[in-house]
Amino acid sequence: MLKRTYLVTGGAGFIGANYVKYLLSQFDDVNLIILDALTYAGNYGTIAGDVDGQRCQFVKGDICDKDLVTSLFEKYPIDVVVNFAAESHVDRSIVNPRLFLETNILGTQNLMDVARQFWVTGKDDNGYPTWKKGVRYHQVSTDEVYGSLGATGFFTETTALDPRSPYSASKTSADLIVRAYSETYKLPATITRCSNNYGPYHFPEKLIPLIIKNILEGKPLPVYGDGSNVRDWLYVEDHCKAIEAVVRKGKPGEVYNVGGHNEKQNIEIVRLTIATIRRLMEEEPAYRAVLKTDLSNVSEGLITYVQDRLGHDKRYAIDPTKMKEELGWYPETAFEAGIVKTIRWYLENQSWVDEVTSGEYQNYYERMYSNR
Ligand SMILES: NC(=O)c1ccc[n+]([C@@H]2O[C@H](COP(=O)([O-])OP(=O)(O)OC[C@H]3O[C@@H](n4cnc5c(N)ncnc54)[C@H](O)[C@@H]3O)[C@@H](O)[C@H]2O)c1
Repeated sequence: MLKRTYLVTGGAGFIGANYVKYLLSQFDDVNLIILDALTYAGNYGTIAGDVDGQRCQFVKGDICDKDLVTSLFEKYPIDVVVNFAAESHVDRSIVNPRLFLETNILGTQNLMDVARQFWVTGKDDNGYPTWKKGVRYHQVSTDEVYGSLGATGFFTETTALDPRSPYSASKTSADLIVRAYSETYKLPATITRCSNNYGPYHFPEKLIPLIIKNILEGKPLPVYGDGSNVRDWLYVEDHCKAIEAVVRKGKPGEVYNVGGHNEKQNIEIVRLTIATIRRLMEEEPAYRAVLKTDLSNVSEGLITYVQDRLGHDKRYAIDPTKMKEELGWYPETAFEAGIVKTIRWYLENQSWVDEVTSGEYQNYYERMYSNR
């Protein structure tokens, strides 16, 4: 069997780790090199059981480090780069935009530059580089590059780019650099733009895992503004399947939107999470062991409306028709089933939550949320 070697950056983060597990369990024809800087959002423990030093290797390092990325291309026969590595939290981008520009834009450019050094085989008659057979650069992007929608309509791949936050501006810039390399050098590159993911291993600063954590601790549930902002929720495994479909079958130079057809207001998510935790605790009393508060406190009384995020986009909704028509992908997990799977995972993996929220995160968390 012809094996391909993937460089998966950000593979110790939420989506990257789920993708690593999905690839290793579903495909025999891939070897993986995970490159991750292990920032506050990356956790080696999440993938420790997957790293075997043979099919799957781990390297701690920065995607902006040219010497390091070059050494990986020298050491391993890398055919595919899937770039998940990013600073990914909008709130943090409002506090420290520069880090987002460095990692998300310059890191992307660095990966493509090194790939170019190793993958270009010559020049065609028009002076364009020719590329090693089968190579692919894939950029994991976001629907936030399209800005905000009103009450109706969907983002398609041709919707104008209109980012509003430092995070989404940095992701948009990265997408434009990928497109520039794809046009100028004919780098075989694809981009996926997905909606909000949820599922196991999600760092508890993002809405769903934060709400679960706070409910279990009996702490206030911070909801921005009036809670009416709408996001389109996608189960993380469905996203991983979409990325792999694009890496294997997507056309170089193309963008693909990946969405869950699951539009929900933030406040609906919070209410549903409270109700589901309560129901699970009542049906399966063994789960109550992880509660750090009384079951009677698991109620909407914990909801606390806080000052809205600056420049908070009102609504995102993705039209994933191109993924369905061209690649046969569609979101398989209904939100109602996905949220139960997710909550069960958190109830059964509290040690993971404790591990990732120890240290630096704890201070940050107190600063961001305790005074609201
Ligand atoms: N989570 C979502 O809902 C969502 C939605 C749309 C797009 N995305 C995109 O998907 C990708 C993955 O998102 P996520 O939610 O898994 O993020 P995450 O924050 O959970 O993980 C990011 C990972 O990247 C690593 N990293 C950060 N800076 C790095 C650097 N300079 N060098 C190497 N590694 C570095 C971190 O250690 C972490 O493991 C990101 O590019 C994000 O923009 C996420």
